[in-house]
Amino acid sequence: MKRKGRLLVVSNRLPVTLSCEEGKWKGGPASGGLVSAMNPVLKNRGGFWAGWPGTGSGARLTDIRDILGPVSEESGYRFLPVMLTGEDVHDFYHGYSNSVLWPLFHDLQSRCDFSPRYWDGYIRSNAKFARVVLRHATEDDFIWVNDYQLIPLGGMLREKKPGLRTSFFLHIPFPSVDVFMKMPRRREILDQMTRYSFMCFQTGRDRKNFLDCLRVFHPDCQVSGRGHIVKVRLGDRSFSMGSLPISIDYQAYSSLGGSRPVVARSKEIRQEIFGEKFILGVDRLDYSKGIPEKLRGFRRCLELYPELRERITLHQIVVPSRETVEQYQALKEEIELLISRINGEFSTTRWVPVNWHYGSVSGEELAAMYRAADMALVTSLKDGMNLVCKEYCACKGREPGVLILSEFAGAALQLSRGAVLVNPYDVDAVAGAIRGAFFMEDREKKERMRYLRKSIARQNVFWWVDNFLRAAAGKKLEDFPEQAI
Ligand code: G6P
Repeated sequence: MKRKGRLLVVSNRLPVTLSCEEGKWKGGPASGGLVSAMNPVLKNRGGFWAGWPGTGSGARLTDIRDILGPVSEESGYRFLPVMLTGEDVHDFYHGYSNSVLWPLFHDLQSRCDFSPRYWDGYIRSNAKFARVVLRHATEDDFIWVNDYQLIPLGGMLREKKPGLRTSFFLHIPFPSVDVFMKMPRRREILDQMTRYSFMCFQTGRDRKNFLDCLRVFHPDCQVSGRGHIVKVRLGDRSFSMGSLPISIDYQAYSSLGGSRPVVARSKEIRQEIFGEKFILGVDRLDYSKGIPEKLRGFRRCLELYPELRERITLHQIVVPSRETVEQYQALKEEIELLISRINGEFSTTRWVPVNWHYGSVSGEELAAMYRAADMALVTSLKDGMNLVCKEYCACKGREPGVLILSEFAGAALQLSRGAVLVNPYDVDAVAGAIRGAFFMEDREKKERMRYLRKSIARQNVFWWVDNFLRAAAGKKLEDFPEQAI
């Protein structure tokens, strides 16, 4: 029987937390759904996780290795650092990854900066990842590459070791042909994506977009099979391709949401926030999340439905991200201005319509917020999946709550039956959805939430990892629903 081989995971960032205090580096394992789902597989099969530790050019490899040693021991598998120079971080991370691929794949081409030098940095840095992986990989191993920062890695690995089994998961959306064709180097990117043995997307829509683009350059490519995994033949090459929605550790969120301290804290939060009902927004600071659109929709709701004034509050948490990038700083200022305008226009002596917090919150506090909130409002302009909406449903338990979800989040395809779907660009629709959720009967809320929880519990992150590995190994998957909108 063929050996399963070790699992080698590669992502741009290593799942560790590192900080430098007074010149001394400290670190520990990161938490999160993906890490907790990968941990048992990595421990069981053996292997490693390679990635950039997130440090600038000031960090020395020996210091980082000293920290990662004990972290690896604690986790039961190795963490391998890929060191990047300041120039790499500029051209590869801020440049090609986050100024070309990120905005373009989120359909926001006006946010792109197509500087030609970024491409060289992208290739140079991917080659650094390849060197680290090749130093440790054998042809028995199974390699799982994650996300848009590392598209060329698979081809680079197989060039040196052609027998390697490589697979790729794209965590962000894949754009339609019209958008994709705008990108310089589109042909190279597409070609690199076909170098993996298995190529996987979040949704069937992303997979279809990819195939449409492939057909532009290879009209003779042949697709065989049906369902979530299909085979593609391209001249003398073939690879398989699938779609699997990533998820959360449902059980962990659900238990945390129902734990005694979280329930107690959620009751306090309900007392602390003024009004009958409150909407919760939780987003990383990113223009793809549609935070200004959410604020405009909420403002419109207060304008159109004055009966809701003093009865509803929006509590928005914005988690800092990519803080050194100018576009992100400008977005923060835009959000501040919009909030200030809404509060200036509608506040009364006892009520402020929008509360906001710029920073991270602890896992417990966040779970209590989710549990307390009457609605969660997700207005992404485009999102690979969006896990906040899944975390909300898991923490909410049997409490009645309404999920208002952007149609442009990958999760909308999976959760369309229980969520209230909205077009975030349509302020009247967002306003109407908030009003609808405010007056929705408890029976309907419970029914919708029951459906949402069931779906998230069944297709949780362990299901995702397991199915990804099964599909990559060429096994057949059980059918699962994905509703089209
Ligand atoms: C998204 C991407 C990830 C990325 C994360 C944080 O979720 O899909 O690949 O790691 O954002 O962004 P950052 O730039 O801080 O790594």
